[in-house]
Amino acid sequence: MAALIGAVLAATHHPAVPIPPDNPQTPAKIELGRKLFFDQRLSADLTISCASCHKPEFAFSDGGNAVSTGVGGRRGTRNTPTLTNVGFRQGLFWEGRSTRLELQAVGPLTARIEMDMQPEVLAQRLEAIPEYARAFREVFGEAPTLKTTTFALAAFQRTLLSYNSPFDRFQAGDDLAMSEAALRGMEVFFAESGDCFHCHVGSEFTDDVPRNNALYTVYQDLGLALATGLDEDVGKFKTPTLRNIELTAPYMHDGSIKTLREVVEHYNRGGEPNLNSDVLMRPLGLSEQQIDDLVEFLKSLTDRSFTTNPAFQPPR
Ligand code: HEC
Ligand code: HEC
Repeated sequence: MAALIGAVLAATHHPAVPIPPDNPQTPAKIELGRKLFFDQRLSADLTISCASCHKPEFAFSDGGNAVSTGVGGRRGTRNTPTLTNVGFRQGLFWEGRSTRLELQAVGPLTARIEMDMQPEVLAQRLEAIPEYARAFREVFGEAPTLKTTTFALAAFQRTLLSYNSPFDRFQAGDDLAMSEAALRGMEVFFAESGDCFHCHVGSEFTDDVPRNNALYTVYQDLGLALATGLDEDVGKFKTPTLRNIELTAPYMHDGSIKTLREVVEHYNRGGEPNLNSDVLMRPLGLSEQQIDDLVEFLKSLTDRSFTTNPAFQPPR
């Protein structure tokens, strides 16, 4: 079984995840990152870990919750994104405002509505746990700090790779991997009729570019404009990957769309008129059959070997 999956992975020829020169991957660092990712002691009141919101069984999203709950029951305003193949993302967070995983992790660790940790408290708390005191010295040659914590978390997250969906197996030559409906839906997705592939590009199903997909006429969350202050960036969010999309409902930056069918219906209508709507957003005129087929195609991007991979579960 493992050999078969290995062969399929090899056959699909995905590029290697880019590794920053200042944070090389090592098995001990990845294992430390995994421990930290699942450890509630990284939050102020010891109740929240990264995995409280990024749950493995939902492809590291928050299973059914439109927004997530952090320390003290505080709720955020954005949907928790999947971490599927996150090592490839060139922009992190919904509008892409962070550019590397090492820096991104400072956000959730210190945000009041997420883990609410002071850097000094984090360092002291980890140093007081002999297992961590030892592991940080072994991996980084120094005591735990905010920086080394984020470096270990980044190393673990770069291992979160998912390339074993029915779509991937079909690409690798297994003609029976996808249903007839999913194959028809694939044609709609990659043709001008559906036009999905212009934004959800390539094997990652994203161009990593912030765009306005006409979700609203008036946006509560300004998206990229929050970072740039520019009118033309209102309502722009990074095109999300569609890998494991079946597992990460509800959808969009605010979790406002409940099902994949409703997402496709949104695109079919051409979305809501707004000044920044992407030129690609227009009524598509898809038939009910084409809509159903497109949903089946999206479901063929689900990789169960990713959500059940023992290397991505809490360490024992
Ligand atoms: C309380 C829930 C919550 C916790 C805890 C949490 N996250 Fe997140 N995470 C989110 C939300 C919500 C976003 C999107 C925020 C935004 O766009 O402003 C996010 C975004 C991310 C992203 C960006 C993904 C992308 O493709 O843009 C990464 C990476 C990430 N989190 C990793 C982590 C790590 C590592 C931890 C632990 C240190 C963590 N998260 C803890 C909810 C959470
Ligand atoms: C103009 C570029 C563009 C086109 C064309 C486009 N998308 Fe999107 N898609 C986006 C952006 C940007 C978002 C995120 C918007 C937000 O969160 O407000 C998104 C979100 C999604 C989501 C929800 C992802 C999640 O994690 O919540 C799905 C599913 C989706 N698109 C499927 C499709 C399908 C199917 C098509 C073709 C019918 C399509 N998209 C066409 C840019 C596009």
